[in-house]
Amino acid sequence: MGKHFAATIMTVTGLIALAGAGAAARGGQDDKPLTPEQVKALKSPIPYSKKSITKGRGLYVRYSCTGCHGADGKATVDVVADATDLTAPKLYRFGTSGAEIFRSIRDGQGASMPNYRSQIPTEDEMWHLVNFIYSLWPEAQRPALVEDKP
Ligand code: HEC
Repeated sequence: MGKHFAATIMTVTGLIALAGAGAAARGGQDDKPLTPEQVKALKSPIPYSKKSITKGRGLYVRYSCTGCHGADGKATVDVVADATDLTAPKLYRFGTSGAEIFRSIRDGQGASMPNYRSQIPTEDEMWHLVNFIYSLWPEAQRPALVEDKP
């Protein structure tokens, strides 16, 4: 009986450890907002390419960013809160570096921009969203487009 109980505890502990390892393997999408140090250390593994922009556009629709920022990112849709016009980097309130945009999506901003860290399962998907957002900017402000490997 005591032995059985100990075995159960061992199994449960093992499963928790596994779940933790899984979260780390997915890029550490745990349920805490990033610290400023973690934001500073962020570096996109996803080049700004046509393929990534297309993926990002799909995610932008799938996660209903359109509902507040509009299909074109201009935020002309009628929402209670004042969503940022994503096509105009000069209007951004929380930074326009890739890492800062990533943070805005992952951890939310202000009272009305929801956090997506529990909804979007991988960091890669967030970086595709960042690339899609770049593609909405005036051409001179976008990063240089990287050719997709065939
Ligand atoms: C419920 C409405 C809502 C949804 C859904 C939403 N946003 Fe937002 N978003 C906002 C609002 C409002 C702000 C501005 C917050 C502020 O200024 O306090 C914002 C801000 C942002 C910012 C920061 C811009 C800045 O000013 O620096 C980014 C980037 C962004 N949103 C991207 C997204 C993406 C990508 C999605 C989908 C994954 C999304 N948003 C979904 C309402 C929304």
